[in-house]
Amino acid sequence: MTLAGQGRNRGAAAEAEVTMTGTRLDPWVDAYASRAHAMRASEIRALFAVASRPEVVSLAGGMPFVQALPVEMLASTAQRLLYERGDVALQYGSGQGDVTLREQILQVIAEVGVTAHPDDIVVTTGSQMALDLVTRVFCDPGDVVLVESPSYVGALGVFRSYECNVVHVAMDEEGLVPSALEEAIARVRLAGQRIKLIYTIPSFHNPAGVTQGPGRRAEVLAIAQREGIALLEDDPYGLLGFEGEPPRAIRADDADGVIYLGSFSKTIAAGLRVGWAVAPHGVREKLVLAAEAAVLCPSNYAQLTVSEYLATQPWREQIKTFQEVYRERRDALLESLQALMPEGTTWTIPAGGFYSWLTLPHGLDATAMLPRAVANLVAYVPGTGFYVNGQGRQNLRLSYCYPEPDRIREGVRRLAAVIESELELAQTFGTTHGLNPVSGTSVPAPNLQ
Ligand SMILES: Cc1ncc(COP(=O)(O)O)c(C=O)c1O
Repeated sequence: MTLAGQGRNRGAAAEAEVTMTGTRLDPWVDAYASRAHAMRASEIRALFAVASRPEVVSLAGGMPFVQALPVEMLASTAQRLLYERGDVALQYGSGQGDVTLREQILQVIAEVGVTAHPDDIVVTTGSQMALDLVTRVFCDPGDVVLVESPSYVGALGVFRSYECNVVHVAMDEEGLVPSALEEAIARVRLAGQRIKLIYTIPSFHNPAGVTQGPGRRAEVLAIAQREGIALLEDDPYGLLGFEGEPPRAIRADDADGVIYLGSFSKTIAAGLRVGWAVAPHGVREKLVLAAEAAVLCPSNYAQLTVSEYLATQPWREQIKTFQEVYRERRDALLESLQALMPEGTTWTIPAGGFYSWLTLPHGLDATAMLPRAVANLVAYVPGTGFYVNGQGRQNLRLSYCYPEPDRIREGVRRLAAVIESELELAQTFGTTHGLNPVSGTSVPAPNLQ
């Protein structure tokens, strides 16, 4: 019997089950590897369809404001590339990435204090792919990855897809809490489990909007070193601070114990899908092998476009333009939150990046509230998407990167009205958690103001 034939037969069987149970819509579901069952659509993804309607103010997706780019210049660069270096740009390339681009990446990471050799760098299809490769190289099913509480939804998806056991560690207004990290390590080891990675976003955290200061970074690094656990430092927003110098990367102080991930998605263009990992020698070798197995090589065309842009354009000036755009939007968000949010609502104050993490007044549930928010033409991401354990019901992520300041103000006005009416409901009927009780172990998350 052919595979297609099996599929058809299974389809018929599944159809019968659909009529019986109404749940089996995928005839192949029993054929999947166990890791596929851990893959779930993120709440952000499900939201995109609704939130992209023009009448909805979306404070949900973290899309960079690419309209601030010199698009004509990029178009002429792309055209010139094809005419002048098409034989390279349209060809397969090195699995580790273009060597000129790797040299240029050294200049970019020098901005956050990282010194390295071009050989230490692996160019990837966005830093998302680097997350995947690192996890593939380090983690067997059941291995523990320690993550912040909350953590980046895309990383949680990767860890889950490799069947890792994800354990959240508390954060405060300065990010990952060192004592909580130590406790988590001790607890996990006592339970006989292996910890493979500590995953952290120290600068302008997604989704929490907080940043580790130098002292905090040193403490986190010291714990990772003492415990012999690799630190996975994810830094796509490090150059998008609103005040002063960019925070110094943790990797700047340890070349052997830290795997550093960076990206051009927020500083040039997400659509080019060019990111990188800086890794100790042995790890880097494995990452290249894993990359070759996955994609042979990153896109030469995209790499050369980035390389040409870095070589010929004032990229540092462009980053300043992005900083100004996002600072203005951050200010619009914070001012209107301050003016309009009902008492009991709190939020973090980001010093860079794209996000603020909002905590609803006691008794309100961000997931249950979302349909009402969308009906009132404003969208956000409910906090539960940033946890693997059902936490985050009282939280939501607000992104200020994409809408214009006036739209942000309008979005906050709509959101405040929704929260007000939820509060009235809660006062009348008790909690709006109601049918959706909070599950999982509670881990403190940033809750400021
Ligand atoms: C913390 C974090 N890491 C990694 C990524 C992936 O970025 P990219 O694959 O576009 O480089 C994102 C994207 O939003 C992010 O917020």
